[in-house]
Amino acid sequence: MPVAAKPDLPNLRDNNRYLLDWMKRENRPGTRALDYGCGDGGLVFTAREAGIDAYGAETFYDGARPEDLELIRAFDPESQYVTTIVNNKLTFPDGHFDLVVANQVFEHIHDLTGTANEIFRVLKPGGTLVSIFPLRGVIREPHLCVPLIHRFPKGKLRRVYYKIARSLNPRAKRINWGEGEAGIDKAFWFMDNHTCYRNLREIREIFQPLFSIRFIEPHWLAYRLPGPAKLKVLPGARLAARVITHLGAGTVLLATKQ
Ligand SMILES: C[S@@+](CC[C@H](N)C(=O)[O-])C[C@H]1O[C@@H](n2cnc3c(N)ncnc32)[C@H](O)[C@@H]1O
Repeated sequence: MPVAAKPDLPNLRDNNRYLLDWMKRENRPGTRALDYGCGDGGLVFTAREAGIDAYGAETFYDGARPEDLELIRAFDPESQYVTTIVNNKLTFPDGHFDLVVANQVFEHIHDLTGTANEIFRVLKPGGTLVSIFPLRGVIREPHLCVPLIHRFPKGKLRRVYYKIARSLNPRAKRINWGEGEAGIDKAFWFMDNHTCYRNLREIREIFQPLFSIRFIEPHWLAYRLPGPAKLKVLPGARLAARVITHLGAGTVLLATKQ
């Protein structure tokens, strides 16, 4: 029987290229990497093509996109590489991974303490977690693409503000939650049920009991903006990099299992 041609892998976005670089740096004979909340699996399969023993884990929750699942099935028809997270539990054995990465996932997880414990469990001693995710302090809510909408209490005012802010912002208009009032209901349903923004203190409280942690926004920002990164020798540059990242994108957590 003829084998169906695999679709092309999507080009990785900048954050996932940054995480691919982490995977390449940590790649030695016998090492394994996990993309936690891997979406369409693009990073997992790109890493595998680069010779990295990479795996993915996904909840495939009701906010997930059907096209993500299609791509995963095309590259991994027997679910060897991408497995399902059920009740916050991973299917992998203890101490299985050298590196766990996650892009734009932790802000979707209500029981982040459970996730931290599970990632700790599957990491080898000395293993590393690198996770990029928005904090509560981020200016533009990344799913509705409207400034500070995640800080508004539910109600009429929030709806009016969303309509006005969206109408003024071409980028927000491009995010298609559906037409009219039903589209607005869907956008708010997603934000209210599938996001859970935290501040840095809360992230520390969750991860510090388990891991040795650092926040590496200057390292990430230098990757994303290599030109301005040349200014890092200036006094206050690291602080500026942190503030810019917190407001514009969130945080970059580096956690090591001791
Ligand atoms: C914005 S997408 C990011 C996907 C992928 N990491 C990327 O960079 O393209 C957020 C992902 O988090 C996953 N997710 C949502 N809730 C989760 C949970 N409780 N545990 C693990 N992953 C979750 C979603 O299924 C979705 O794929």
